[in-house]
Amino acid sequence: MSDKAGRVHETWSSRWTFIMAATGSAVGLGNIWKFPYIAGENGGGAFVLIYLFCILAIGIPVMIAEVLMGRWGRSSPVHTMYKLVDDAKAPRIWHGIGWMGVVAGFIILSYYSVIAGWAIRYFLQVAGGAIQSIDGQAASDLFTSMLSSTGTLVFYHSLFMVMTMFVVIAGVTKGLGRAVRILMPVLMVMLVILLFFSMRIGDFPAAFKYLFSVDFSSLSGPAILTALGHAFFTLSLGMGAIMVYGAYMPDHAPIGKTVLTVAGLDTLVALMAGLAIFPIVFANTAIAPGEGPGLLFISLPVAFGNMPGGMAFGMLFFALVTVAAWSSSISLIEPAVSWLVETGKATRLQAGVGFGLICWLLGLGTVFSFGPWEDIRLFQFNFFEFADFLTANIMLPVGGLLMAIFVGWMMDQTIVRQELDIERDWVFNLWRAVLRVFSPIAILWVTLEGLSDIFGWEWLSLMSWLS
Ligand code: PHE
Repeated sequence: MSDKAGRVHETWSSRWTFIMAATGSAVGLGNIWKFPYIAGENGGGAFVLIYLFCILAIGIPVMIAEVLMGRWGRSSPVHTMYKLVDDAKAPRIWHGIGWMGVVAGFIILSYYSVIAGWAIRYFLQVAGGAIQSIDGQAASDLFTSMLSSTGTLVFYHSLFMVMTMFVVIAGVTKGLGRAVRILMPVLMVMLVILLFFSMRIGDFPAAFKYLFSVDFSSLSGPAILTALGHAFFTLSLGMGAIMVYGAYMPDHAPIGKTVLTVAGLDTLVALMAGLAIFPIVFANTAIAPGEGPGLLFISLPVAFGNMPGGMAFGMLFFALVTVAAWSSSISLIEPAVSWLVETGKATRLQAGVGFGLICWLLGLGTVFSFGPWEDIRLFQFNFFEFADFLTANIMLPVGGLLMAIFVGWMMDQTIVRQELDIERDWVFNLWRAVLRVFSPIAILWVTLEGLSDIFGWEWLSLMSWLS
């Protein structure tokens, strides 16, 4: 373990490097694959608005808290929590924030890797000419045929996991950190080009209306919970990924501004992905907005298959999606690896290989849930859906809730003030009020209402207690 004087970790060379690393973690499958399909499943506009509100009013304040905890603790999330709990003389149960994050990271990475494997597979499909002049129906068939081949899914899942472990073992600041700095802007430019193209061949007005015209009547408790959970997922929040990157952040970098930049870029990418995908969806009767996890993989090939230079463009696109997923996946496992390495019980190599294997095994559950295990259900969820629901909609928000309470109520407020280094009092006070009161209540409420709706546990619903 370490403290301010004797830190064990290297720090990022500059604030900019931290921004790129945190953006690398935040921008990933969550933005490009998940956001469009859950927006489609939950009816569009009202869902998108709630999601944006959750980013602004809950995600950003909690992200500031998480970075602050990491920078003050300067070690892995588990050890950072040990130190913070000691300093605050808080009950040991708060160590749970670190441990729960480690577990959540494992579960998320297990299915994340399967989906990233789809992107690698699609890169090769595009390269092989499989999507030449494809239409909506054929694109849908292509996707289904990939899912039906369990061997293919296992192969690409394994490949992606090996790629992730490779970087994790080499250490986070080298290699990929540098690559991401170049590739992320390229991804953004490509999304803009794609957006213009899909405006031309697709139904842009319908897409725009779908994503931005708000109709609250279509909004349910579970949809609000999904929006909240996704705000955490897309910002990599509530499980220690941002904490561990915060631990590598230079002392004097302004946390608030940095967090705003990361959250802004992340949101921009998600909205661009949505605006690129939905025009194609609405121009093809064979593709439904509520298509589910296949949405990206069914809609975009239609664009690539019919645009000039679509093959090169499509290959580049899926390559970049893979890179975006790659830079996120290392941050999912880094809390666990950094913890084990700090204990001195294992090297990075051993920790990486061991944890990688666990995640790989767990990922097989997701692979099978798109095939032979599709109908094996826990409540209404298959394996993949359950892993996703448990982590994104429960563990991350609960992690965020605990972080908000810990920084807001347990930590020494002079440290908090000094670390944040916000000049204007009102800004600091506003942030603290949101963190202490608004965020915890909102997270708790949304989670309980969502659970009560989904499982029919009425006693969990504050609404039903109040009425
Ligand atoms: N934020 C990543 C994405 O949007 C996923 C992620 C979640 C990464 C939690 C790290 C921690 O794809």
